[in-house]
Amino acid sequence: MNSMEIKKLYPNRFQIPQDKHIKAVIQKEYLIEGKIKKHEGPRQKVYSPIMINEKDGIKPYFLGEYPLMDKNQALKALESAQKAYSKGSGLWPTMRTQERISCVENFLSIMKTKREEIINILMWEIGKSFSDSAKEFDRTVEYVADTINALKELDRNSSRFSFASGIYGQIKRSPLGVVLCMGPYNYPLNETFTTLIPALIMGNTVIFKPPKFGVLLHKPLIEAFAKSFPPGVVNTIYGDGKEIITPLMGSGKIDVLAFIGSSKVADILKKLHPYPHRLRCVLGLDAKNAAIILQDADIENAAKECATGALSFNGQRCTALKIIFIHKKIKKQFTETFISKISNLKAGMPWENGVFLTPIPDDSRINYFEELIKDAQKKGAKIINDNGGSHFGTFFYPAVISQVNEDMRLWREEQFGPVIPITYFDSIKEPLEYVINSNFGQQVSIFGRDSSQIASLTDILVNQVSRVNLNSQCQRGPDIFPFTGRKDSAEGTLSVSDALRVFSIRALFAFKDSNENKKTVDEILKKGKSKFLSTDYIF
Ligand code: G3H
Repeated sequence: MNSMEIKKLYPNRFQIPQDKHIKAVIQKEYLIEGKIKKHEGPRQKVYSPIMINEKDGIKPYFLGEYPLMDKNQALKALESAQKAYSKGSGLWPTMRTQERISCVENFLSIMKTKREEIINILMWEIGKSFSDSAKEFDRTVEYVADTINALKELDRNSSRFSFASGIYGQIKRSPLGVVLCMGPYNYPLNETFTTLIPALIMGNTVIFKPPKFGVLLHKPLIEAFAKSFPPGVVNTIYGDGKEIITPLMGSGKIDVLAFIGSSKVADILKKLHPYPHRLRCVLGLDAKNAAIILQDADIENAAKECATGALSFNGQRCTALKIIFIHKKIKKQFTETFISKISNLKAGMPWENGVFLTPIPDDSRINYFEELIKDAQKKGAKIINDNGGSHFGTFFYPAVISQVNEDMRLWREEQFGPVIPITYFDSIKEPLEYVINSNFGQQVSIFGRDSSQIASLTDILVNQVSRVNLNSQCQRGPDIFPFTGRKDSAEGTLSVSDALRVFSIRALFAFKDSNENKKTVDEILKKGKSKFLSTDYIF
């Protein structure tokens, strides 16, 4: 697909399907102290990555506006979250688990009614295909429901006393404080909620800032937050990170930073906190997951998994395959099959049936992709697929770059987009050394059949990355599996149940075995006098 063909992908206004039309979303609202307030200051204009073919050319499509809040408003949100937490004595952190669960259930039931609206805005705002946008919504709903069940399970397991060395103890988990939640633009709903919901349900209060792209889709949920949670438990802020996040981190009053984005930004944010030992971090960061295609790999399957693994949502996934190592013995066969799989991927607008390649939200990335390609070409690499790297407007056609080596930026930089470096190896030591010496440590995919080779590779790779995938692309799911990384790739582990742990700390009540103590505790339990001490079973 060359740039002239790409140009033709953009629709005119009449070609937008009736059910995918969108009215500009002008958001002035933000949530603070349980009240939905109107922002009277400046607003950020939002344009869709889906450009429109107008009479006078192809133009960005105006999608809406959101508040550009300032430092003072951000600090008010912090005050609100702190007040709701009240150093752990607020209504929310001291509430019974079952009551907090009811609030989240209420939120979830309202959220479900907004499905169509949120999916449509998500599609327009970040250019994710309609079917993947729907999957993102449904996966998030399922994640929230699973989180509720995981908390019930956790509570049941701690609804008894332990006895050791003459001491009884009830061991539970309690919240940490004020959590700042910042999700990424590639999964603005799902990845935000995989931290926000566990943080909330464990009794923390939250300040939530949506990513740079993927803000407006949260608007339909502001009211649901306000209706479902006590005042100040959820607060929303919007705007430029430097203006609104710097003072929050610098205040030293953020107890947990939940951030999915680059390690560079994470480092800046962490350093702003004046008491680093008090700050807990839950971070999902950079990755450069490698695929290793062994000489006995099922080529058809490996090529299919690598094409979709590298290009789902145009390669804008932290788990995307970002470099492919191919054994020299299958160089020709694999490369041809891989390129043909890519050429079969349908390019178009996100609402089209079966579409795979779509416009990208951050068009400044297009220059970056070009820079990476030019740098590689200058040092001997080649684009080997037809029209690889062609672009127009916000659409960039995937480029497969062969003969990539360690002198090139593509070797080590996380491209986070539709540029796929490939390289050929004789000895397995070459890809192994790559993974071992990489700054990243999220996942790897190995394609092959020889059980002895797979076993010995796995034994080395599990100490380099956090997930080794056999004959399939890298991915986060299923969400009950742990999702984490080594080195620059993550801090903390997320999964439905792990997330409940990272946003809480063990707390226990202990007493010596004496008749008087037993009588006191017995009375507390029988009369339901405490919210923490309880042997109730949550069904
Ligand atoms: O961007 C990183 C996401 O966590 C990837 O999730 O593998 O389900 O696309 P996924």
